Amino acid sequence: MYDAPSLERNVDQKEIKFSARNVQVYYGDTHAIKDVTVEIEDNTVTAFIGPSGCGKSTFLRCLNRMNDTIDVCRVEGDIRLDGEDIYDKRVDPVQLRAKVGMVFQKPNPFPKSIYDNVAYGPRIHGLARSKAELDEIVETALRRGAIWDEVKDRLDAPGTGLSGGQQQRLCIARAVATAPEVLLMDEPCSALDPIATAQVEELIDELRQSYSVIIVTHSMQQAARVSQKTAFFHLGHLVEFGETGQIFTNPVDERTESYITGRIG
Ligand SMILES: Nc1ncnc2c1ncn2[C@@H]1O[C@H](COP(=O)(O)OP(=O)(O)OP(=O)(O)O)[C@@H](O)[C@H]1O
Ligand SMILES: [Mg+2]
Repeated sequence: MYDAPSLERNVDQKEIKFSARNVQVYYGDTHAIKDVTVEIEDNTVTAFIGPSGCGKSTFLRCLNRMNDTIDVCRVEGDIRLDGEDIYDKRVDPVQLRAKVGMVFQKPNPFPKSIYDNVAYGPRIHGLARSKAELDEIVETALRRGAIWDEVKDRLDAPGTGLSGGQQQRLCIARAVATAPEVLLMDEPCSALDPIATAQVEELIDELRQSYSVIIVTHSMQQAARVSQKTAFFHLGHLVEFGETGQIFTNPVDERTESYITGRIG
């Protein structure tokens, strides 16, 4: 099992964004996440990999308290963002989710115009002082979502009228519009064609300059291409965590090796 790092660290190491200690997640009687301890770095893309049902999405949702919305779900342990306990009673989950944005597997645009989808977050968080400023935030976000050119002439059209791949890029634009510090992406490319996938991967690499990005993916090629760190989950355990290159070429645990060579999962 993956051992938590000691508190000593190298000077050249990136800052720690998320620190999770002994996290357990239960859905009723199902113990979905088993004693996970991990530190997620800033300015890094971290990939979560592992077979279906191993707990990747569940653990991801712990990081912005999306599990709060699931009645039967119970989270235990300690999760800190920049050293602050995100499960503290004083933390407002809405504010937390502006800081820790999320992109889901299925594109889920609001039933609103393309413009209003992206402007929604900046509006509720009061990020723009004028219409011109809001326009600029929307344009920048749509550009970062690699969809600006396709929608710039129809910003008033409904977001739900876009193709699946376009909707996903719109959702990425919506997530980055609130200038989050962390972006959680749960299989963000599963509805995209190879061209849109490449655009999103490029975007992820760019986002790493300013954010910490965590991506759940079933594609080892994608994990190897976009991430610097990789976490391998299996049956609710975090089995192995380390440099992506090491995980894919020289895994320590035999379950990791079986998975990356296609023997399990
Ligand atoms: N809303 C829920 N209610 C009850 N059980 C759930 C719920 N969501 C997930 N689970 C259970 O928790 C475990 C982990 O599921 P999770 O969705 O986190 O896996 P995953 O690694 O994301 O899988 P996949 O790759 O298929 O998306 C599974 O046993 C699943 O059945
Ligand atoms: Mg999942």
